[in-house]
Amino acid sequence: MPAAVPLSIGNATTRRDFLSTTSRAATATSLVALAGTMPAVHAAGSDEIRFALIGCGGRGGGAAADALSVPGANLRLVAMADLFLESINSRRRGLGEQFKERVDVPDERCFVGINAYKAAIDCLRPGDIAICATPVGFRAAHFAYAVEKGVHTFLEKPVSIDGPSTRRIIELAAKAEAKNLKVGVGLMCRHSEARRELYHRLQSGEAGELIAFHGYREHGPVQPMDLYPGPPEGMRDLYWQAKRFHSFLWASGGVFSDFYVHHVDEVCWMKNAWPVKAEATGGRHFRGRLDDQNFDSYGVEYTFADGTKFFYSGRTMKDCEQKFGVFGQGSKGAFTISGSGHAPAKSTIYKNQQMAKDNILWTAEQPENNPYRLEWEHLMAAIHSDAKYNEAVRGAEASLVTAMGRIAAHTGRTVTFEEIMNCPDDLTAGVADLTDDSPAPLQRGADGLYPVPMPGRYKFEFRG
Ligand SMILES: NC(=O)c1ccc[n+]([C@@H]2O[C@H](COP(=O)([O-])OP(=O)(O)OC[C@H]3O[C@@H](n4cnc5c(N)ncnc54)[C@H](O)[C@@H]3O)[C@@H](O)[C@H]2O)c1
Repeated sequence: MPAAVPLSIGNATTRRDFLSTTSRAATATSLVALAGTMPAVHAAGSDEIRFALIGCGGRGGGAAADALSVPGANLRLVAMADLFLESINSRRRGLGEQFKERVDVPDERCFVGINAYKAAIDCLRPGDIAICATPVGFRAAHFAYAVEKGVHTFLEKPVSIDGPSTRRIIELAAKAEAKNLKVGVGLMCRHSEARRELYHRLQSGEAGELIAFHGYREHGPVQPMDLYPGPPEGMRDLYWQAKRFHSFLWASGGVFSDFYVHHVDEVCWMKNAWPVKAEATGGRHFRGRLDDQNFDSYGVEYTFADGTKFFYSGRTMKDCEQKFGVFGQGSKGAFTISGSGHAPAKSTIYKNQQMAKDNILWTAEQPENNPYRLEWEHLMAAIHSDAKYNEAVRGAEASLVTAMGRIAAHTGRTVTFEEIMNCPDDLTAGVADLTDDSPAPLQRGADGLYPVPMPGRYKFEFRG
């Protein structure tokens, strides 16, 4: 891959940047407690903030519920957009039962189709909020429209999947900032109090010098393996690819970007840096009858500028051992960043390299507050108090270094931060201009199959 254009951002976000992000959000939390006593400065002079949900799937519904659960936030869901009416109806029903009149989405404000997001955002006033919870392939297009319309945004993770989409998000983040818009990103682990405490303990040297990190996400396949190739009768290919987004690199960055971004981000946060390069292997042992651009196993070695390593293993296979978590080793002792799931983190520091229950130096107090709730409390506190709040650049950088590992595995080559940031291969080129009648971004080859990555064969992942 050529490294033609100069870097638009430094590859080592400074410790000060990480720290300032952490403390800024921490300040915002405390403002939530004061919400009742603060003068409300909300959208268009009203004390109610409206929001639209774009992408009404599992996480979209979860994010809307988390938003509506923020104490004192005075939010109302007023518009919903999705490709499928059934998804809208099922979330509208569930949220309506839970939050009653704070869900005010009559049929006229339910929008279906590839450009439904515009109609939903058009229902908002400047200073309201758009939740962008579709697959990431649409993220930059939806973010661009929200920023144009002057609304705050919550962008689900990941926010980008390659160099071009990352550069788009970073440019949009600057535009949002210039308009004083707040941007939350669904990397909720950053909002976890347990991990924040671990971060501060690691910075103060409790585990010594941080030497190595390792992480795992190993579980069964994301889709059943016996799906027939291609969309079911009557569903256009574009919708099929958007619906089965984990299988298509343009839509999701694959399982690698979609799943592993949390773990990659957690490690980079603790390390206070982005890795400078990635080397990786991977392959597909079982393809079944499923169209899918993913490998079913990935092994990555990320290297930081000071030589520190981060080894990551991803696997989606049936009947194999399951493992989930990110861990590290310092010169004084090992530590767990998150142990068995995203929440609770159960962050822990050990007295030496033995990660045993009887060898604990510190462990996060239980029960932990839910980070999915906390990320919304922090965003709403920033909106209420008009504090600077923009997680988009950091989210884009985390998404980019995740893609760096994926692309290293898919190409069979070492990929540097500089290369990935400047890489011209644009998986979501043209997505902003799609209509319901457009051909799908990924076309089948002459053999009738979708192209898949073959390390060593292509310049980019599955083409070029
Ligand atoms: N933060 C987290 O831990 C977390 C957890 C799960 C999912 N996510 C993220 O949330 C996003 C959605 O994942 P999900 O699990 O909710 O998937 P999902 O399939 O349950 O929901 C996605 C929804 O988006 C809709 N959609 C697709 N393209 C659209 C478009 N152009 N316009 C409008 N709607 C569109 C789909 O029809 C579907 O209803 C992904 O980016 C995923 O990575 C984050």
